[in-house]
Amino acid sequence: MELIKDTAQFEEIYHKSCHQPELFWDEIASGFTWKKRWDKVLSWNFTEPNIHWFVNGKMNITENCLDRHLPEKSDQIAFYWEPNSPDTSPRSFTYLSLYQEVNKVANSLKQYGIKKGDRICFYMPMVPELAIAILACARIGAVHSVVFAGFSAQSLADRIEDSQCKMVICSDYNDRGAKHIAVKQVVDDALQFPGCQCVENVLVYKNTGDEVTWYPERDLWWHDVVPNQSNECEAESMDSEDMLFILYTSGSTGKPKGVVHTCGGYMVYTSYSFKQVFQINEKDLYWCTADIGWITGHSYIVYGPLLVGATSLMFEGVPTYPDAGRFWEICDKYNVTHFYTAPTAIRALMAYGNSFVEKYQLKSLKVLGSVGEPINEEAWHWYNEKVGKNRCPIVDTWWQTETGGIMISTLAGITPSIPSYATKPLPGIQPVLLSADGIELEGNEVEGLLCIKFPWPSILRTTYGDHERCRQTYFSLYPGYYFTGDGAKRYKDGNYRIIGRVDDVINVSGHRLGTAEVENAINRHPHVVESAVVGFPHDIKGQGIYAYVIPVDFNIDETILKKEIAEVVAKQIGAIAKPDKIQLVSGLPKTRSGKIMRRILRKVAGGETEGFGDVSTLLNPEIVEEIKDGAV
Ligand code: WTA
Repeated sequence: MELIKDTAQFEEIYHKSCHQPELFWDEIASGFTWKKRWDKVLSWNFTEPNIHWFVNGKMNITENCLDRHLPEKSDQIAFYWEPNSPDTSPRSFTYLSLYQEVNKVANSLKQYGIKKGDRICFYMPMVPELAIAILACARIGAVHSVVFAGFSAQSLADRIEDSQCKMVICSDYNDRGAKHIAVKQVVDDALQFPGCQCVENVLVYKNTGDEVTWYPERDLWWHDVVPNQSNECEAESMDSEDMLFILYTSGSTGKPKGVVHTCGGYMVYTSYSFKQVFQINEKDLYWCTADIGWITGHSYIVYGPLLVGATSLMFEGVPTYPDAGRFWEICDKYNVTHFYTAPTAIRALMAYGNSFVEKYQLKSLKVLGSVGEPINEEAWHWYNEKVGKNRCPIVDTWWQTETGGIMISTLAGITPSIPSYATKPLPGIQPVLLSADGIELEGNEVEGLLCIKFPWPSILRTTYGDHERCRQTYFSLYPGYYFTGDGAKRYKDGNYRIIGRVDDVINVSGHRLGTAEVENAINRHPHVVESAVVGFPHDIKGQGIYAYVIPVDFNIDETILKKEIAEVVAKQIGAIAKPDKIQLVSGLPKTRSGKIMRRILRKVAGGETEGFGDVSTLLNPEIVEEIKDGAV
C-alpha cells in the first residue's frame, strides 16, 4: 500500500474512491494475504441494512498481523510495553515472539473447548497479555468482547449475558496510577448473576501476584495453561463477513449495544486508515495512549499497527503517575515519533502548567493525533506549541465505535491541519450533512446532521443479537444513510468541524455514556422518584454529568443522598459515570405528552440564566424557576 504523497494526489485518489469505490477497495485489499480471493467487492443496502465486503473471501486477520511479516521482520519489535510504575521492568515483543505467544494462547483456548464463533469476554488491564489473547481469539475464529476494566460487575455481567460468553479472561489485580484494583473480584461478582451461567472457564493472568479467591472447577491460571503449548497454531479460515469482535457502546436509549465488526473489511480499513492518517514509515515508533477497552485501542493499538508491520508502544498507566510529566518522559525514553491521545488528557496535563512538558526534549516527535471528542482551540494550540514545538502536524481524527476506523481527519503532513477541525474525509468516505427533515445540504458554510451515504469496509454490520436495533438506531431516521448521531459544520474547501452529539449521548473524558443509562442507575436508589441527566461543558472532561433528581421527600440529609446516588451509579455502571453535579428538584419540566424538556435542563446545567424561550406550554412551567434558582 502506497502512502499518499501530496494534496493533489489525495484529491485524485479521493475522487477515484467515490466514483469507482469497488475498484479502489479491490486494489487495496489485494495487498493482504487471503486464503481465497473474494468473488465480489461489495454488496449492500442501507435499508435492512445488509452490507458485505469482499464477498466469499477467506482470510485470517492474524496471518496479516503476524505471519505475513515474519520473513522480513521477525526480529523487529512489534510492540514495547511500558508499565504503570517506572520502577517495574518494561517488556517488548518482536514479531516472532508475538507470533509464538499468540499461538500458545490460541492452543490453550482450543484445549478448553473454545471453537470458531464462541464469544470470549475480556476484563483486563493494559498488559501485553491482553493484546496477545485478543489475537489468539482471532487466530482460532473466536469472537472477542473486550469490556473496559473500569466498568462495574453489573455492567460486565450485562455484557457477558448479552453475548453469551463461554470464557472470561482477566488478571488477578491491576495497578493503575496509585490505585490497586481487584480485577478478578469484579469478574467473580459478575459471574454470580444468573445470566452468566454461560461462562465455563475464567483464565486468569497473574499480574500483581495478590491473593485471589479461587474456584477450582472454573478458574484456570494462565501460567499453568499457556507456557506448555505449542507455539504453532494454524489460523482458522474465516469468511470476510465472519464476526471478528463485539464491542459494547452506549446510545440514546436502553442498555449498551454490542457493535459487531467482521474480519475482512475491518482488516482492510483499519490498516489503510492507520497508514494514511499517520503516514507511518519504517523506523517510526507509534504510541496510542487509549485503553484497549475502547474502539481506539482495538483499531489503533492492536490491529492497525500490526497489520502494517509497525513498531508501537503500549502503556499500562495513566498520564499523571507518578507525575504529570509521565507521557513526555516516555516519549523521550522510547523516541516516540507518532503520539495519539485524547483531548481530555491534553487538557488535564495543561492544567498542571508547562513545567512538566518543558522538562523533556520531545525531539523525536513527528506527528500528533487527537481522538474521542472535539478538541477545543486552547488545547489544540497547547498541544501544537508545547508538545509538537510547532513542527508536528496534528491529526484530529473523527470516528466512532460503529465506524471501526478513522473517517474524517487530516493526513499528517499531506493535507492541512486546522485547529479544532477534523478537516476532510478519508478516501472511500462520503459524508453528507442533512437538515432535520433529511434534505442533503449542499455547498460549504452549512451545518447539519452528519451522515454517511456510501458504505466503507469497516462499517458496523449489526448489533449483536438484535439486528432491528441496529436498523432503527443508525439507518431508519434518514433512510439511505448511516446516521452518526453527531452534528457538524462544513466550511470552505470542504473542511468539517465536528460539533458534538445531537442525541442523548454524552462524552465524558472521551467515554461515551447514554443519559438514559445513568438515569436508570440513579433511579435504582430507593429514595429517588425520577431523574434526568444531561451533559454540561467541563474544563477537563469536555462534558460533565449533571443529574436532576426528584427525591421521595425532601426531609433528608442532602449530602448523604447525593453520595449514595454516586455510589449507586458506580455500582451499576462504573466510576466513570458518577455525576459531577446533582441537583435535587421537586419536578422536571415536561411537555404535555410527558416528555422531559432536556433543552431547558441543558441550559441550566451549562450555567445559562436566560434565553429559555416560551415555557408556558409546559405541563409544569413553574418548575423552570425552581430549577434555575437551585442550580448547583
Ligand atoms: C466523538 C471514539 C469530535 C463523536 C473513536 C463520536 C469526536 C463519538 C472525535 C464516538 C473528534 C470522536 N472530534 N468528536 N475527533 N472523535 N468524537 O464510539 O461524538 O467512543 O460520535 O469512538 O465521539 O465515540 P466512540
